[in-house]
Amino acid sequence: MAQVVLQDIVKSYGSLYAVNHVSLTVDDGEFVALVGPSGCGKTTTLNLVAGLLPMTDGDIVIGDRIVTDLDPKDRDIAMVFQNYALYPNKTVYKNLAFPLQMRKLPKDEIDQKVRAAAKVLDIVPLLERRPRELSGGQQQRVALGRALVRDPRVFLMDEPLSNLDAKLRVQMRTEIKRFHQDLNATIIYVTHDQLEAVTMADKMAVMNKGFLQQYDTPKNVFDNPVNTFVASFIGSPAMSLVPLEVVQRGDQAVLTNEAGWELPLSAMNTRKALKATTNKVVLGARHSTIKLHKSETVGAVPARVYTVEPTGDITFVQAFVGEAVVIVSLDPTVIVRPDEDVWLEFDQERMHLFDGETTMALSAA
Ligand SMILES: Nc1ncnc2c1ncn2[C@@H]1O[C@H](COP(=O)(O)OP(=O)(O)O)[C@@H](O)[C@H]1O
Ligand SMILES: [Mg+2]
Repeated sequence: MAQVVLQDIVKSYGSLYAVNHVSLTVDDGEFVALVGPSGCGKTTTLNLVAGLLPMTDGDIVIGDRIVTDLDPKDRDIAMVFQNYALYPNKTVYKNLAFPLQMRKLPKDEIDQKVRAAAKVLDIVPLLERRPRELSGGQQQRVALGRALVRDPRVFLMDEPLSNLDAKLRVQMRTEIKRFHQDLNATIIYVTHDQLEAVTMADKMAVMNKGFLQQYDTPKNVFDNPVNTFVASFIGSPAMSLVPLEVVQRGDQAVLTNEAGWELPLSAMNTRKALKATTNKVVLGARHSTIKLHKSETVGAVPARVYTVEPTGDITFVQAFVGEAVVIVSLDPTVIVRPDEDVWLEFDQERMHLFDGETTMALSAA
């Protein structure tokens, strides 16, 4: 397998930048997810790596070769798409063997590669069937097998699980992860589903509007989102974001809103808040870091319950703080009702503060 380097790559269609100066390195054997909302440039990025689109600017390096000017077939990559594009009239065996026959490999070598791939993917008993005799998950495994027999230096996958039902998607998620572990494969995996990215990838590249927003391990992206976009995109339910104003009271900063309450900040959060370019900051908090009180509590801010959603183990409460909706998770034994007045206490150690103007995370350093 091989390392893949995207060097300042650009793809524009007239004035629209589908991919806007993206640089990142996928290490040999790494599983990287390109994740972001529909239209953010994921597929375009993947197709540029594959060589399926001419690039406006930048370079792509696979292993020790600059492949920018090479045809897809000379890049040593294998692609797996959302629709598996299996040959309907060929058996699974022939579907797997076909790309190798095209490369004119000897028959016994083809047979050996097909059987090895079938074994890895646990489809040996299916080799004589045709695609229509297979379930969606089995078809997806054959599509993976067809990529695998080619012995590529990199696997490129574009939403390969999107056509499967929810249960099968979760199962195939595990199988692709296993596939990656067993083969030590370099994989670039496109998905709009942040949960897929978080659960499968070694690193995730979060994109928005053609720009790379953050490239790091799922844990680091989750714990330290660089801006409000990443904060609200990664994690489910999403991190709550409350636009507020910061006011200095002596050495301490306090957050306020138009309702007139004041939330004093810790020393660390004071340092962060005072770094904002204006007096506008955005308080970010994940549901599990917020305590809901049913009576007025020092250090907690007033809110009004909007909806209550029991899910079994956890009840999610959406409450308004001013105009912003805040999601809090509660033990199901706690009873709250819509329109009830409550007080929310944000964990100062785990809250996030973002610049209200630039949307970037504020740091104390
Ligand atoms: N051939 C094209 N001509 C013009 N715009 C395109 C073309 N292909 C993609 N785009 C635009 O580029 C952006 C990125 O598209 P795409 O990479 O397919 O997004 P994603 O895979 O993240 O959903 C979108 O705004 C899309 O409309
Ligand atoms: Mg796409």
